Amino acid sequence: MVERNGRSHETSTPSGSTLSPPDSFVEQANVADPAIHERFETNWPDCWTRAADLLSWDDPYDTVLEDDDAPFYRWFSDGRLNAAYNCLDRHLESGRKNHAAIRWEGKQGERRTYTYQDLYVEVNEFAAALRDLGVEEDDVVTIYLPMIPELPIAMLACARIGAPHSVVFAGLSADALATRMDAANSEFLITCDGYYRRGDAFNQKSKADNARIGLEQDVRTVVVDRLGDDMPHVLGDDEWDYHELCAEFAGETVEPVSRNAEDMLFLMYTSGTTGQPKGVVHSTGGYLAHVAWTSHAVLDIKPEDTYWCAADIGWITGHSYIVYGPLALGTTTVMYEGTPDYPDRDRLWEIVDRNAVDVFYTAPTAIRAFMKWGPDYPGRHDLSSLRLLGTVGEPISPRPWNWYREHIGGGNCPVVDTWWQTETGAVAISTLPGVDEMKPGSAGPPLPGIDAHVIDSQGEAVKPGETGYLTIARPWPGMARTLYDGDERFVTEYWQRFSDPDADEWRYFSGDTARIDEDGYITVLGRVDDVINVSGHRLGTMEIEGAIADVDGVAEAAVVGRSNETGNTEIYAYVSTEREREPDASIRSAILESIEAAIGPIARPAEVIFTPELPKTRSGKIMRRLLEDVANGEELGDTSALRNPEIVGEIQAEVGDGS
Ligand code: WTA
Repeated sequence: MVERNGRSHETSTPSGSTLSPPDSFVEQANVADPAIHERFETNWPDCWTRAADLLSWDDPYDTVLEDDDAPFYRWFSDGRLNAAYNCLDRHLESGRKNHAAIRWEGKQGERRTYTYQDLYVEVNEFAAALRDLGVEEDDVVTIYLPMIPELPIAMLACARIGAPHSVVFAGLSADALATRMDAANSEFLITCDGYYRRGDAFNQKSKADNARIGLEQDVRTVVVDRLGDDMPHVLGDDEWDYHELCAEFAGETVEPVSRNAEDMLFLMYTSGTTGQPKGVVHSTGGYLAHVAWTSHAVLDIKPEDTYWCAADIGWITGHSYIVYGPLALGTTTVMYEGTPDYPDRDRLWEIVDRNAVDVFYTAPTAIRAFMKWGPDYPGRHDLSSLRLLGTVGEPISPRPWNWYREHIGGGNCPVVDTWWQTETGAVAISTLPGVDEMKPGSAGPPLPGIDAHVIDSQGEAVKPGETGYLTIARPWPGMARTLYDGDERFVTEYWQRFSDPDADEWRYFSGDTARIDEDGYITVLGRVDDVINVSGHRLGTMEIEGAIADVDGVAEAAVVGRSNETGNTEIYAYVSTEREREPDASIRSAILESIEAAIGPIARPAEVIFTPELPKTRSGKIMRRLLEDVANGEELGDTSALRNPEIVGEIQAEVGDGS
């Protein structure tokens, strides 16, 4: 490896340019052993003890993996531990209680720092309060909070008493919250009065109130007062003020509940192929081991670092890499409530500069926005503290990848393009920044111990350069254990397609397509199921279509993703109205309102295109793929298999008009 001016050495290969990490990075990397891939391979599954050994166990495990009930795998299953203990108590015991755990940057410029001791105190008080409200081990506690410190505090308080949390993204609607609470039969809710979006105060409590109306179960609710006089609220029956509750339990400590490694740590709802969101179940031991290990090996996090993952804790990225991973390693994790462009487009770089952030992790959508805004914004700040950059959530093409490395990383930070999912729990495909060469546009090889393959519909490995399905053959510790809605759905959603249960051969299907190159580097292309990835948020087309179909006068709807000029995915909705109903502005706004009410503003389509009919196959199936091609202005293949091919021209004209 040759280092030139502190930059990494670049070589050109037939598959594109390859960059090696700078020597200065490799020298200090948590994992720099070139033989690590091989070591994991020859020692599988015991290799994963390297991850589990990053944790403190109450009872050590003897068994690494139990696979007799596949695909319901069990990891470290005779061990016991507590996740909150691992994220808090053990750091106090090792003399790091005054080290900053969370640096919170509020939307209005407020700042709060929690040391590990502060966080420990707050988590204990709130854990005591939850117990007092009647929360018992294994009760599902729903958390519906924006990016305020009470969110991770509530999560850790739940973990401490062994109550799985189910965090619902604060931007989702009342209906979406109700659906999730109903599915999990959750009787406890933690929410707030409201929060600021840009300059405005938004009412969160009224959404929570509306959700509760429709629920059969009684719900006990804790309300965090975020806005004070900006959003006065009254507490009703079964409602408590967060700060008053904590004051009542001031100074109390709660013994962390020793959980079996396989006990549920949390539940996270995500969109799937049917209208009903899937409740992905994560374990305590395997999940925490996998997130701690990837925080260490992929994000190269060290306890003395200031680390920032600019995601929302309401999604899996924030669970794994704002809360559990970094806190398990005892580092300082930055938590930002606002948006990248408020009050100005240099907001993130101002935060990096002021906090001397070492490792920064964000999504390609954000990077494409930074690129569009231009290098002057990051140029106003000193970003030289950065050592490593990461991206997650969507494919990133070489141009934004290179821009990120150059203008944010100053040309000398490795960039890790990390592929994973709510269901994988933690990163599964990425370069190891201290070991592997980087290829812009490709996530990289599967991580050591992850048995990912790109295969064709027959289950055979595709040749380098060809497209296939991204699957994982052997289990891994952070994997989802099941779906809360039932084991059967878990098997149908993820395993059925490529497994042979009779031969006891199991293969996980990610729902993504990918290409693999001659070096085993995987480029993830996108989803093949009915999921649209908008700014790294997974939205189910069926959920959106259901909301449109609820509008009076709508006959049918189909929703697809379209890549706009910036490379971001937008939602296009094709709608046909009933014969007697003319499409007009009122039905258009009713559609948008219905989507916001059912899911939230993130699911708002960029375009609603009215068409007399949707294109269908002879068997009556809507041809979504064709509609996607129309939306993307792509050349259309053979449409002769359609029952109504004449409609395609009309739709094309309509889409053309709209743009
Ligand atoms: C996509 C987010 C390409 C993919 C952690 C996956 C990616 C879905 C990448 C999971 C990446 C995530 N390159 N695509 N580096 N990372 N994806 O569950 O389609 O919100 O299946 O988890 O995001 O989204 P989820």
